[in-house]
Amino acid sequence: MPLLARRIGRAKPSAIMAVAEKAKKLKADGRDIISFSIGVPNFLPGDHVYQAARDALAKDSGQYGSNRGTDALLDAFLQHIEALGLTGYTRANLSTGIGAKHILYNLAESLLDEGDTIAYPSPYWTTYADIADIVNAKAVPLPCPASQDYKLTPAQLDDALATHKPKVLLFNNPSNPTGMVYTRDEIAALADVLVKHPDTWIITDDIYNRMLFDGLAYTNFVQARPELRDRTVFVDSLSKTYGMPGWRVGFMAGPEPVAKALTTMNSNHITNVPEVVTAAAIAALTGPQDVPTQKNAEFQAKRDQVLAAMEAIPGVVCPRPQGAFYVFPDISCAFGKSHGGVKIENDVDFCNALLEAKGVACVPGSAFGEPRALRISYTCPTPQLAPGLQRFQEFFAELK
Ligand SMILES: Cc1ncc(COP(=O)(O)O)c(C=O)c1O
Repeated sequence: MPLLARRIGRAKPSAIMAVAEKAKKLKADGRDIISFSIGVPNFLPGDHVYQAARDALAKDSGQYGSNRGTDALLDAFLQHIEALGLTGYTRANLSTGIGAKHILYNLAESLLDEGDTIAYPSPYWTTYADIADIVNAKAVPLPCPASQDYKLTPAQLDDALATHKPKVLLFNNPSNPTGMVYTRDEIAALADVLVKHPDTWIITDDIYNRMLFDGLAYTNFVQARPELRDRTVFVDSLSKTYGMPGWRVGFMAGPEPVAKALTTMNSNHITNVPEVVTAAAIAALTGPQDVPTQKNAEFQAKRDQVLAAMEAIPGVVCPRPQGAFYVFPDISCAFGKSHGGVKIENDVDFCNALLEAKGVACVPGSAFGEPRALRISYTCPTPQLAPGLQRFQEFFAELK
């Protein structure tokens, strides 16, 4: 058989999906499993979204559509980002894709040549490393441990930009996997550093921008330092905010040449976001916002519940997340101990033993570049949260 392309040798299936698959299998075998593993929002969009999809179906053209996205979709996204405080963009600054993952992949293809460097704070969303591998870029994770609240500091950023001269800095706020949110002052301090390094593109993957707690407001580098606008690309998605991960709609707003590059990529890959999906996306962005608002309040309450459980476990260090729906405790105090005779040397052992013994699925932190931690995604049905956390605490109490 002829060989596959070398690029495929570098592509890996998602580590998060591997845990989810194992949990699914145990469930199919009859085990009582509580999954804290997968980052899906677990709610559905409002009725108006489905109605818009039905209406679009009734008058479907069945034709190919715009590579960039329909004018109505682009206008809906413009309205959405203006409400966020990102003003002054036009349709020419935008493009769309099949989810933010697709946008990020197309950005990597558009901004990075083979061997170029891409830097990102670590812990990071697993896909960043995977996409860098596929396009054969050099990935430079910038370690941000729990002791610095999993956040990049201005000095660290300055040093990384000076040392590695990355072609792209990939930033993520609020963060998956840590749930941490940068304050306005923190963004401003990082933006001041970015201004000093004009040869680096900045991608801000901020798809959780509507999922903020404790009254925090979302801020972007462009708001802090408007001169960063001509090299900053903002990435957004319907998936998490609107409970629409399977509808696959992502967006970007940035410099015109980047939006054009992504549109050209679309013309060669997907052609267009489908018509019915476009109608649903417009309804989600412009219609009543009560579902996302209500879900955000629920997530904040669940965050409190998870955090209280983590804080009650001696030795666990858990910076306080203020967004998204993840908690990322440092559980390295368990390393070197055993559970029911099973030795725990690292995060993977911990997650396997927890799943086997208690039926609770979490993702090992090493999947996100931080092997001292694990990720708890708390989007499970609310009645499962307390028992899942109780089992987690029991597991710790039983360590020897
Ligand atoms: C930080 C981050 N960026 C991008 C994505 C991809 O989102 P989408 O469903 O729009 O592809 C995810 C999904 O988990 C994510 O957590």
